[in-house]
Amino acid sequence: MQELTISFIGGGNMAEALIAGLRRSGHDGTRIWVSEPQQARRDYLHTTYAVQVSPDNGEVAKQADVLVLAVKPQQMKAAVNGISNCLKADASVVSIAAGISSSSLHEWLGDRVSIVRVMPNTPALVGAGMSVLFSDADEMHKQRAEYVLQACGVSVRVERESQMHAVTALSGSGPAYFFLLAEIMKATGVKLGLSEELASQLAAQTALGAGKMLAESDRTAEQLRHQVTSPGGTTQAALDEMYEMGLPAAVRKGVLAASKRSEELAG
Ligand SMILES: NC(=O)c1ccc[n+]([C@@H]2O[C@H](COP(=O)([O-])OP(=O)(O)OC[C@H]3O[C@@H](n4cnc5c(N)ncnc54)[C@H](OP(=O)(O)O)[C@@H]3O)[C@@H](O)[C@H]2O)c1
Repeated sequence: MQELTISFIGGGNMAEALIAGLRRSGHDGTRIWVSEPQQARRDYLHTTYAVQVSPDNGEVAKQADVLVLAVKPQQMKAAVNGISNCLKADASVVSIAAGISSSSLHEWLGDRVSIVRVMPNTPALVGAGMSVLFSDADEMHKQRAEYVLQACGVSVRVERESQMHAVTALSGSGPAYFFLLAEIMKATGVKLGLSEELASQLAAQTALGAGKMLAESDRTAEQLRHQVTSPGGTTQAALDEMYEMGLPAAVRKGVLAASKRSEELAG
């Protein structure tokens, strides 16, 4: 896989996260190409990661064994205009744009192009991303996409594209749910007399520790919760109040609303 040339159309935040991961994992900068309209951004990516840069999407697409489409959803149609003629016959096209379906991509790029659709999330920026991919293309194309995605986190597959709405509601939008919880915990810590700095640190490190336990332990979230909840203790007092105030129903309804919105945006 390290011999593949990996090209990016759009050199924004998510592209940078993937490029940083690939460089960390030893992928040579001469085999990474990025097209990006802004000169200052191109210079930054070239200087920071020693990758090849260009303002020309066609030039970058031409080099690609794997072409990662990393522009905003509303920029996608314009960004891919005309590039299908530049692609190698066995190139893999990986789209990370939220809400852009495989059928739209086929409509813009042609039916013969091998497409992998991915829903990443922002923790990719710190190497802890959760990416979910769907593709009808051959195994080789999925494995190539996984090589890129696993440079900045974990990746899994779904069998049906319709599952991408639920994926968006869980891992795509999910970081914001945890940020909200941390925000509220911090503000309440300050009300209880802690400094802003200390309350922030306690909330962040607690989220990190709980996340690590969830990801690494054999136990379920429910078992881990029971483990830290002694009857009649402080955690029990907090959770009783949270249940009483309807936190589980609020989270459930929130996740369902995100999935519904994802379906609406897909049209
Ligand atoms: N960030 C997230 O949390 C997240 C999570 C999941 C999925 N995604 C998906 O990842 C994709 C990228 O998101 P992002 O946050 O990295 O966006 P971003 O920072 O705005 O990056 C997009 C980059 O593409 C450039 N661009 C615009 N039009 C172009 C064109 N025609 N050809 C080449 N480059 C072009 C933009 O330049 P200008 O600034 O000049 O427009 C910008 O530098 C989105 O589709 C998003 O849905 C993001």
